[in-house]
Amino acid sequence: MKLRVILVFVSLFASCYGVVDVEKFLKVCDRNSVDVNDCLVDAVQEGLTVMADGIEELDVPPVDPYHQKELRVEYKNNQILAKFVAKNIYVEGLKSSKVLDTRLRADEDRFHMEVDLTTPLVHVHGSYRGEGRYNSLQILAYGRFDTNMTDLVYTWKLDGVPETNENGTFIRITDFYMRPDVGDMKSYLSNDNRESRELTELGNRFTNNNWRLLYREFLPFAQENWNKIGIRVANKVFLKVPYDQLFPTKS
Ligand SMILES: *[C@@H]1O[C@H](CO)[C@@H](O)[C@H](O)[C@H]1NC(C)=O
Ligand SMILES: *[C@@H]1O[C@H](CO)[C@@H](O)[C@H](O)[C@H]1NC(C)=O
Repeated sequence: MKLRVILVFVSLFASCYGVVDVEKFLKVCDRNSVDVNDCLVDAVQEGLTVMADGIEELDVPPVDPYHQKELRVEYKNNQILAKFVAKNIYVEGLKSSKVLDTRLRADEDRFHMEVDLTTPLVHVHGSYRGEGRYNSLQILAYGRFDTNMTDLVYTWKLDGVPETNENGTFIRITDFYMRPDVGDMKSYLSNDNRESRELTELGNRFTNNNWRLLYREFLPFAQENWNKIGIRVANKVFLKVPYDQLFPTKS
């Protein structure tokens, strides 16, 4: 009798506060279970499929293709100054990823999760405007960019802290890190500026022959960008679903 009253009270409370029934969208795992990491491999794998199209109820944007309005990169070293603005960027391929392993440390005061993944092909494209200066030489180029990366191997590292508000206790993700190893990369920049077109052809050849070096130079910019996106997307789920529902402790 008492239990029923409590249950009714709990469900009333839950519906009052519009708490989301997460199991409609995502598989959840008991954080104290010995099989938690196996469970999470499946949960993240299924989660990727669901999140590819976005979850409207949680305001999660579609992640495959992922659309980013703009990315600005400014690069300076001695005589070189380069500004690169990419717009309407589409990133495709995340949903074909395979989740290999996960590691979870979910305590009362700290949250840390690692997910090992591989993605066979990531296709990134959009429009760009690039300006470069080398001593007194100036270049301006604009058009479309297109990059394919294959055989990516990487680990997502998410860190968070519990946060309690009037709706319960949630994990706020404060940090997202990844540093993908890439098997191969092919890029192409088209250039609508006649004056510098020949230079872009040269640039394309240079980029494809030296992509490993350029990728390393570009990584810090990409990582800062991924950090922001990862935190924002993760918190759409983590700040809306109470900790005890997302990572219940049944045992
Ligand atoms: C608590 O939940 C309500 C209803 O979902 C929401 O409008 C409100 O912003 C939430 N409060 C916080 C601090 O997130
Ligand atoms: C990347 O792959 C897409 C689709 O498979 C293709 O249309 C595009 O031309 C490729 N781009 C490059 C630079 O190889």
